[in-house]
Amino acid sequence: MKTVQLGNSGVEVSAFCLGTMFFDSSTNAAISYQLLDQYVEAGGSFLDTANIYARWVPGYVGGESETLLGKWMRQRQNRSELFLASKVGFEMPGVERGLRASQIEEQCEKSLRRLGVNTIDLYYAHVDDRSTPMEETMEAFHKLVKAGKVRFIGASNFLAWRLEEAGWVSRTRGWSEYCCIQQRYSYVRPKPGANFAPQIAANDDLLDYCKSRGITLLAYSPLLRGAYSRSERPFPDQYVGPDSKARVAVLKTITEEKNATANQIVLAWMIRSEPCVIPLVAASTSGQMRENLSSLKISLSAEDMARLNNAAS
Ligand SMILES: NC(=O)c1ccc[n+]([C@@H]2O[C@H](COP(=O)([O-])OP(=O)(O)OC[C@H]3O[C@@H](n4cnc5c(N)ncnc54)[C@H](OP(=O)(O)O)[C@@H]3O)[C@@H](O)[C@H]2O)c1
Repeated sequence: MKTVQLGNSGVEVSAFCLGTMFFDSSTNAAISYQLLDQYVEAGGSFLDTANIYARWVPGYVGGESETLLGKWMRQRQNRSELFLASKVGFEMPGVERGLRASQIEEQCEKSLRRLGVNTIDLYYAHVDDRSTPMEETMEAFHKLVKAGKVRFIGASNFLAWRLEEAGWVSRTRGWSEYCCIQQRYSYVRPKPGANFAPQIAANDDLLDYCKSRGITLLAYSPLLRGAYSRSERPFPDQYVGPDSKARVAVLKTITEEKNATANQIVLAWMIRSEPCVIPLVAASTSGQMRENLSSLKISLSAEDMARLNNAAS
């Protein structure tokens, strides 16, 4: 699989990161194994999970995704071939939301145990915490890096100015800096003022910030749970904005020209974007996975990209 630089970390990661949020909860263990194998067979090695996945699914408490990944890696003996990302910061049973040093240290230990590994390659602050001093949070992450428990750190659901503040705190103290930001991002844009709290959608300000600082944007929910292709899954209200009709229309034209699907064009557009965006690709069937992975073969010309980027009402 094509690889891309992860921020200024100096490492290359797969152009598609596999989202494993529902593995061993909504998506049963057998299918989860099948999807993991399918992604790895396609050359992918970048897996995304979190301590809380998927605590909101009835009957689950969180930790199921990490535990399944741990079992799968042990069975496949492939830990060294993978780039593993996990996260801390959201609440789950027995754990409050936040990024206090004690929360970061404790949750990292638990994630390492569930995953059955010594090191997490990329560890995210899953959500901003304005009540804990930034110094406390960044020092805690830096200590994990120094201890070899984490290789790189990233942020998720942060505003650009808070990322800059975190960068300043780390730079002035010689601590590890966030190398990437994971935010809600798709081709159709949210309408102005759309609220996804506690999630935060990427906006032009963040994209510009990423470009100028060399920070990679990882896009979660890139396919809007299938809204581009499934009539029973309308676009969420927050996306029915001034330019959504124009964007859907251009997407349809290019989809037909390329003999592809709308999902494939959305993913192909992301990895061809400047700066490059890494989509968190998720699927619950091998057919969806095949369709999504095939978008790596679609080439969009500069003219296609301009048409997609400039579509407006
Ligand atoms: N940092 C954060 O706060 C945050 C938040 C959300 C997600 N994430 C990460 O991002 C990953 C992806 O998020 P997401 O699940 O919200 O992504 P998404 O792209 O919006 O939705 C994926 C879902 O869309 C449907 N789908 C996928 N491919 C399809 C296809 N080819 N045709 C039709 N339907 C298709 C499937 O739904 P069905 O299963 O219903 O068929 C699949 O489970 C997660 O696994 C997680 O790792 C991070």
